Amino acid sequence: MQAISRQSISEELRRRFRQANNILVMTGAGVSAESGVPTFRGGGNTGVWKGLPFEIISSAGMVERDLPAVWEWFNYRRGLLESLKPNPAHEAIARWQTLFGDLTLVTQNIDGLHQKAGSRNVIELHGNIWRARCVDCAARHDLRELKFDNSVPVCFDCGGSLRPDVVLFGEMLPAGAFEAAAMKAEACELCLVVGTSAVVYPAASIPEIARAAGAYLVEVNPEVTPLSELCDEVLTGKAGEIIPLLER
Ligand code: APR
Repeated sequence: MQAISRQSISEELRRRFRQANNILVMTGAGVSAESGVPTFRGGGNTGVWKGLPFEIISSAGMVERDLPAVWEWFNYRRGLLESLKPNPAHEAIARWQTLFGDLTLVTQNIDGLHQKAGSRNVIELHGNIWRARCVDCAARHDLRELKFDNSVPVCFDCGGSLRPDVVLFGEMLPAGAFEAAAMKAEACELCLVVGTSAVVYPAASIPEIARAAGAYLVEVNPEVTPLSELCDEVLTGKAGEIIPLLER
């Protein structure tokens, strides 16, 4: 794949990027690939944990049946993420907060790398691996403040069991997250979709909403996705190489 250069970005997109006041950026696992986070469908992910398919160990049913196993899986994943750093794509998007009147960052990622890069008010459609939630009172807790070994951590508000605060297979998105993202998508002038296979709904409908409302839709991905044909512009390549080019 030929490295993308500044010239590959159209004058149209440059102008819109320069003039936009209200933009929405939606990211998926691909934006974190260059930081070392395996993607789900890009072949990077093992897909199996201790003989259990990813869709099973990361499911609502598993929280019911075997919460300690769910924690063991998420403790392992947090361990993988601990040392990983944001890449130039995360860093550029964080800088854009001061570049635009209204920047909305919507992510499907639970890795917290956007926040580590300095992004604030991130709409997390699938939760965050660094947080836990009480199965009884729904209180949220920052896992960095919790000391627990491999047992199931306990809610110090009500004594209930905590579970990872991520959206598991078979579960609804966090209350209000999708609605907030959809509202912003309807109002944005420019929508950038970075590093998602665009196959998981309702997240994948956010760029469709933006396009239908008249936004200029741009995809950044080394591969073609079901969204590509809907886009005004497709930038084929890696997010860490392309995203910073938009500022120059
Ligand atoms: N830069 C940009 N895009 C990349 C890069 C990169 N360096 N490397 C890979 N990609 C692209 C892949 O081509 C693929 O289209 O990122 C996409 C990753 O797709 P998925 O692995 O399907 O991840 P995502 O779209 O975020 O998955 C959505 O599915 O499994 C659930 O909850 C999980 O949030 C996740 C959701």
